[in-house]
Amino acid sequence: MTEKLRLYIVDKEENSRNIIKNYLSETFDNYENEFILEETQSIENLAKDGLELENTILLIDISEDTEKNLEIIKRIKKETKKIFIITLSNKASTEMIIKSLRSGAKEFVSKPIIKTEFQDAIKNVLNEIKNNETESACKIISTFSNKGGIGKTSIAVNLAVELAQMSKEKVALIDLNLQLGDVSTFLDMMPSFAMDYIAKNIENLTEDELLKTLSRYKNTSLYVIADPLNIDKSQEITADEIKNILTTLKKTFSYIVIDIGTNIDSKTITALDMSDLILLIAIVNLPAIRSTQRCMELFNKLGYSKDKIKLVLNRYMENEEIKTTDIEEVVKQKVYWKIPNNYLTMMTAINKGVPVNAVNAEANISINYKEFASKIADYLITQNINKNYN
Ligand SMILES: Nc1ncnc2c1ncn2[C@@H]1O[C@H](COP(=O)(O)OP(=O)(O)OP(=O)(O)O)[C@@H](O)[C@H]1O
Ligand SMILES: [Mg+2]
Repeated sequence: MTEKLRLYIVDKEENSRNIIKNYLSETFDNYENEFILEETQSIENLAKDGLELENTILLIDISEDTEKNLEIIKRIKKETKKIFIITLSNKASTEMIIKSLRSGAKEFVSKPIIKTEFQDAIKNVLNEIKNNETESACKIISTFSNKGGIGKTSIAVNLAVELAQMSKEKVALIDLNLQLGDVSTFLDMMPSFAMDYIAKNIENLTEDELLKTLSRYKNTSLYVIADPLNIDKSQEITADEIKNILTTLKKTFSYIVIDIGTNIDSKTITALDMSDLILLIAIVNLPAIRSTQRCMELFNKLGYSKDKIKLVLNRYMENEEIKTTDIEEVVKQKVYWKIPNNYLTMMTAINKGVPVNAVNAEANISINYKEFASKIADYLITQNINKNYN
């Protein structure tokens, strides 16, 4: 850690502040040396003093004046780049936890404070800070739609192939359709180790071993993690394991492309949360557009920014009956990209188990995928520059 972290305790009750300090001393050998410790009775004191809150872990009791406190948290979070907030409350309802996390807190601890719960929260935040600092430029791109057969896998596969070819950097392609995914079929691969094995072993593998364990696509820099062969094994994979896999892969890969599938559960939400870009796939027909609208509503609820979501129209044909502007109006999101309808090339590619550019590099769909990959790569680079320099 480059700079010493400030640890700010905001709690009206002295007794409660003392308990926190007590637990801190039981968690760290010498916490007063590790952090700059400060405490105050109300968050308004912080705001009033105009205190510099960069590089701070803020522990704040929101049992009283919850709404007001959450508003202040939101504002502080917006104004401060490196602040990690843990909220505490004696009203530990699911609604309260969700509200608090949505306002920008990283963790929630119920009161009266249980030592292990408090320690877990602090450790999670410290891990997050460590990961932030060692964060590579790796970007996670997901394909998603809550409708089947819309082209999620085709897009994930062809995009990953193009990104690897274009950048020559390491790209991981993950099949999160944990039951009967078809990424490996689309690339005619027979991975020796699938998601279940990686989930259980990733922590014990060195980077070299990891790359040997993953299935490399031909001689390219694309590596594939397929769905488990055995459906029972799929159920054993947890959301925490998905998080762990992605966090670890980020250290080695430049891009991670995830075929998320149609399921919405804790595993897919973890992957969506961690994605830098979600390609929300739609085709131009009414039921698909309605589902896309519902997906957008879900993403809004999850607090995703509009920038994180890119609406992609697949199997697009000129002179569609429904106009692009109509779709944009319904979905409340601009169309980011259109992939042409080319059934013949696409079907040949799938049947041969190759990307479309291997069937015919001159086909409109192959050229389109190349341009799409390059647009995404440019966008992510620009986003990184803005993040670092603004
Ligand atoms: N641009 C395209 N032009 C024509 N056909 C396409 C195009 N993209 C995908 N398809 C076809 O649509 C079908 C479904 O594609 P794909 O399997 O990628 O969708 P999916 O959303 O992943 O489906 P599932 O929900 O079953 O996982 C395939 O048969 C594929 O050939
Ligand atoms: Mg699919």
